[in-house]
Amino acid sequence: MKALNLIAAFVLCTLPAFAESVHIATPNTSMVLDATRGKHLKNIYYGSRLDDALASDVKALKSSGLSAMEAYPQYGLMNNREAAIGVIHADGSMTLDMIVDAVKESTDKKTGAKTVTVTLKDSYYPFTVDVNYRTYPALDVIETWTAITNGEKETVRLQQFDSGYLPVRRGDVWLSHLYGAQLNEGHLTHEPLTPGMKVIVNRDGIRNSHTAHSEIMLSLDGKPRETEGRVIGAALCYSGNYKLRIDTDQHAWHHVFAGIDPDNSEYILSPGETFVTPELALTYSTEGTGGASRNYHRWARNHKFAHADVPRKVLLNSWEGVYFNIDEDGMTRMIKDMADLGGELFVMDDGWFGDKYPRNNSKGSLGDWVVDTRKLPHGIQGLIDTAKANGIEFGIWIEPEMTNVQSELYEKHPDWVLKPLNHKTVYGRGGGQMILDLANPEVQEHVFTIVDTLLTKYPGIDYIKWDANMAVRNHGSQYLAPDRQSHLYIEYHKGLRKVLERIRAKYPDVTIQNCASGGGRANYGLMPYFDEFWVSDNTDAKQRVWLQWGDSYFFPPTLMASHISASPDHHSYRFAPMKYRIDVAMSGRLGVEMQPVQMTPEERKMVRNAIAEYKQYVRPVLIDGDIYRLLAPEEGHNAASLMYVTPQKDRAVFYWWKLEQYQNQHAPRVRMAGLDPKRKYVIRELNRIDSKPLSFEGKAFSGKFLMDNGLEIPYGYNVPKDDRNDFGSRVLYLEAQ
Ligand code: DGJ
Repeated sequence: MKALNLIAAFVLCTLPAFAESVHIATPNTSMVLDATRGKHLKNIYYGSRLDDALASDVKALKSSGLSAMEAYPQYGLMNNREAAIGVIHADGSMTLDMIVDAVKESTDKKTGAKTVTVTLKDSYYPFTVDVNYRTYPALDVIETWTAITNGEKETVRLQQFDSGYLPVRRGDVWLSHLYGAQLNEGHLTHEPLTPGMKVIVNRDGIRNSHTAHSEIMLSLDGKPRETEGRVIGAALCYSGNYKLRIDTDQHAWHHVFAGIDPDNSEYILSPGETFVTPELALTYSTEGTGGASRNYHRWARNHKFAHADVPRKVLLNSWEGVYFNIDEDGMTRMIKDMADLGGELFVMDDGWFGDKYPRNNSKGSLGDWVVDTRKLPHGIQGLIDTAKANGIEFGIWIEPEMTNVQSELYEKHPDWVLKPLNHKTVYGRGGGQMILDLANPEVQEHVFTIVDTLLTKYPGIDYIKWDANMAVRNHGSQYLAPDRQSHLYIEYHKGLRKVLERIRAKYPDVTIQNCASGGGRANYGLMPYFDEFWVSDNTDAKQRVWLQWGDSYFFPPTLMASHISASPDHHSYRFAPMKYRIDVAMSGRLGVEMQPVQMTPEERKMVRNAIAEYKQYVRPVLIDGDIYRLLAPEEGHNAASLMYVTPQKDRAVFYWWKLEQYQNQHAPRVRMAGLDPKRKYVIRELNRIDSKPLSFEGKAFSGKFLMDNGLEIPYGYNVPKDDRNDFGSRVLYLEAQ
């Protein structure tokens, strides 16, 4: 047995007997493949880190009872099982027999990422699949994807082309995933895997996380626990339609498949063409769902979104404050108010553009990205100057992938939209919205130019809110050839990525928010081009506790735009005191989503103080803090609590939100987590409204005490009787002595 590379993350071992093992190792996890030349590629193990000697000894591993399952199951020879890949060859054959041809390893000098590529070759056709596995230094995530190449003389039709597959030993395995709807995104659900097929699918075409999300966790030791138990995570990084399947079969296995949804998307692979599938990011933790979340957050901060190490600016967004009623006086007022509150950025939302067709509602003007000088006589530059004069930055909303029937763009380029080739068009928002056909390179150029023109003309634009408010309702590309219409979804997203890559290359420093009718695009397929995402148009603080809780399973807090909005809330009509709205918004990227002129002087004071405390205490912890979820809202204790702890364990922020009013009914005392047991932490309450400080204010407790016992959080406030209400929340800042 000869180890080719014992130091690198991948260890390839040639066994003189038969098997050649590939050890894909991260600091705490191992995946072992049997990549014996001339045989099918097998997955033998995914779990806790193995030592290299055992990982390279396929025989020993198998003797422990581990099975060798196909690593990328193919259709044709074992058809009673689900397949990750299925094709129709030019001669009509539907069989694949993919055998290991070569194993290569490469390192990315910039990131230190290592990729192992196992090339599979069909035993008859010149058809190959590269199965890739990438790891990064110090991160417990393995990204897997495939590159499928047609070496045949005629086209091959791809019927199924998953990114990856993972066999999971059957047991009391529970699935955790996010579902929901627009205004109700990111709901977490836990369910046991039972015999049969569980399918998670998204077919919006544009926004793929309003309903189902493409990220899941599997708890292998029964009901998910936050701090213990083995958990596998799988996150498909793709902006378009996807399908995740978990087949719990008659044998001892759950089979997990994830990839682009092939339905209505047959892909015709020309001779010589390669189709690359999106990455599936796998993680494994023995520290429960919390451990898996921390793995994903670290990986995301290092590689999966822009400017992860740059503190996010506290912003005021105009949408819920004025909706479409943009005018110069109103914008100037908001800029001044935000500066006065200590904010750092003002973002002008929808309603600022359109010449022939002014944008006064959602019915028209998308595509006409010229400033409406009737509303803004001094244009965008006037507002940038006002922002600068007030010491803050300026940002702007656009929806560059879209147009309206009522727009100058559509009048000029009716051939640039997605529409059925021979039927009546079904429109989107406002009754006239359409999607620009990003499969068309001319349209890609145009969408790039929209953003490029804005940013070149106005270098003072610091932030873009990139929105997308429509599903692909019509199947039809006026650009794609008749025999390539089934490529529409895939080519659209390829085109979108090309545009975003160009924008990012030219404007690396601009902050860009990913928004899609709220949280419709919370997915790591797009996040590398963005700095953050808008969690939901639902800004009701109480509901945000749930939505942000769900998203926190996979996304770190700085990615989540979380704003203080009006009371009563514009969607739920719920009244919530300013303290509660602040305490919830402060657990993500803090912003304001209301008209500051409507704040009472007392509320203004509270918001000003919150912004200052957020900048001083919370933001530096959130930027790379590890999440510890302490009390889940779904557990029914009528309260929720979580905390973030810096990697050095010297600072932490603890949140507690009451979800119901208690009368002689008690919430559990929440034990903290993630602290250094030996260090002592001084407690400081943020956003304090009580006339008297909490009993533990300014006191120091050891990490051990706080993790064994926690602190008793009072359900209400020590304030005059008339100021009391049924809400309750606390934010505590902990600093090691
Ligand atoms: C949908 C977004 O989610 C909102 O925040 C807002 O930007 C509107 N679009 C504007 O039309």
